[in-house]
Amino acid sequence: MSSARRRFAPYTQPGATGLPFDCDADSMNTIALLLAAGYGKRMKSDLPKVLHPLVGRPMIEWCVRAVQPLATGRPVVVVGHGKEQVQAALAGQADFVEQAEQRGTGHAVMQAASLFVDGVDAVLVSYGDMPALRTETLAQLLELFAGHRSDPSLAFAMLTVVRDNPQGFGRIVRAPDGRIQAIVEEVDCTPEQRLIRELNPGVYCFDAAWLRAGLPKITPSASGEYYLTDLVALAVSEGRTVVTVQAPVEEVDGVNTRVQLAEAAAVLRRRILERHMLAGVTIVDPATTYIDDTVRIGQDTTILPGCLLQGATIVGAGCRIGPHSQIVDTQLADGCRVVYSVLESARMDQGAEIGPFGHLRKGAHLGEGVHMGNFGEVKDSYLGAGTKMGHFSYIGNAQVGENVNIGAGTITCNYDGVNKAKTEIGNNAFIGSDTMLVAPVTIGAGARTGAGAVVTRDVGDGETAYGVPARAKPARPRK
Ligand code: UD1
Ligand code: MG
Repeated sequence: MSSARRRFAPYTQPGATGLPFDCDADSMNTIALLLAAGYGKRMKSDLPKVLHPLVGRPMIEWCVRAVQPLATGRPVVVVGHGKEQVQAALAGQADFVEQAEQRGTGHAVMQAASLFVDGVDAVLVSYGDMPALRTETLAQLLELFAGHRSDPSLAFAMLTVVRDNPQGFGRIVRAPDGRIQAIVEEVDCTPEQRLIRELNPGVYCFDAAWLRAGLPKITPSASGEYYLTDLVALAVSEGRTVVTVQAPVEEVDGVNTRVQLAEAAAVLRRRILERHMLAGVTIVDPATTYIDDTVRIGQDTTILPGCLLQGATIVGAGCRIGPHSQIVDTQLADGCRVVYSVLESARMDQGAEIGPFGHLRKGAHLGEGVHMGNFGEVKDSYLGAGTKMGHFSYIGNAQVGENVNIGAGTITCNYDGVNKAKTEIGNNAFIGSDTMLVAPVTIGAGARTGAGAVVTRDVGDGETAYGVPARAKPARPRK
């Protein structure tokens, strides 16, 4: 908290008693409410706005994760447009309240009013389209609120933000003595009010009892919407206190368009990269490195330019990734190398290497120290420790033993147009260049195939198979 606090210049109203920071926001019974029922028209999308993906998580999940540590129970999300999809995306992470008709942010909070029962101290309200808002900033707001709770006139605390470009935000109107008077929505602003640079990000911490009593007093705007922001003027008219604290600009830029989506992604992406760099990962070019929030990376791994690490990917320590590789839902043990390659739902054991131009597809598993060179593809297969597959091969639905040499151009012919069939290759086998392994087929331990062999029948341990289709000749002792 103390480091977070240094980032901010808390605005306290003249005449306020200042902030008794010995207070403890943790001891409050706090409901966290996220408004996410709106349509998000400006995204021009069939996907609900709050579900647009942002560096590995849907937008709303960032918001839920930010408020979660501050809420006494699970965060509550107000859903409406696309509610089934939003509920599915957040299953287990949040509770839900439905707003059947979207009649404004005040109306959205009204849908949750039955939750604001006796015993609830604070209701933290935020919007579901501010994915860059950090827990530390929200905690600052809660501390401000908690610090003023001894004041019986306290109605709520809220964030404000000062921006050069105020477009799209409600303006904070203050009296000459600095006290907040009202929030005026952009559409309702006078020309003078339009010039105001202190703005409403839409993050509030309400006294629960005051909120319960105040909500029914909001009257609809000219457009028929119930504005949550009208609660400021209501509190002021009742002689109640509203306190504010300034938030960092980049955290409270709401996402309304895909341009803003990209801006939010840039902020979150930079944060993720910094977290890894501070934990001992070298990122040679942060400008061209894209790492999802869900990815884990071990110490002393180096990420070269042009890499995307996505989904449930885990990279071990001391790996070298890139340049120009995409790794999705894949686990790499320590000391792996990936060069100009694409890896999806795969696994590499310690010291395995791939590339340049390799492709691991679903279910590919390279054992310890496996070397896979240029233009190889592996799918649904295990390659045992020490196996080498240097050039131009396709291995699918295969179980390959240890220290096997897979010659250039080897192909498992695993698909007959209807079914997939399996290939098994024993330890220390030597598969000659351009071998076609017509599955189902088994190549014994220490067996060999001649260059260009088309293998349609099993080859026994130590046997050599050659020709088209390949014939087997008896085993002979090998050096
Ligand atoms: C709102 C604020 C404005 C503030 C701005 C910051 C109000 C009236 N205005 O305006 O002062 O500067 O955010 O970005 O609050 N929502 C619902 N149900 C509804 C309407 C909205 O759940 O009926 C949700 C939306 O899904 C969204 C959030 O509330 O997540 C904000 O709604 P939005 O329409 O984006 O409000 P703004 O016009 O941006
Ligand atoms: Mg908005």
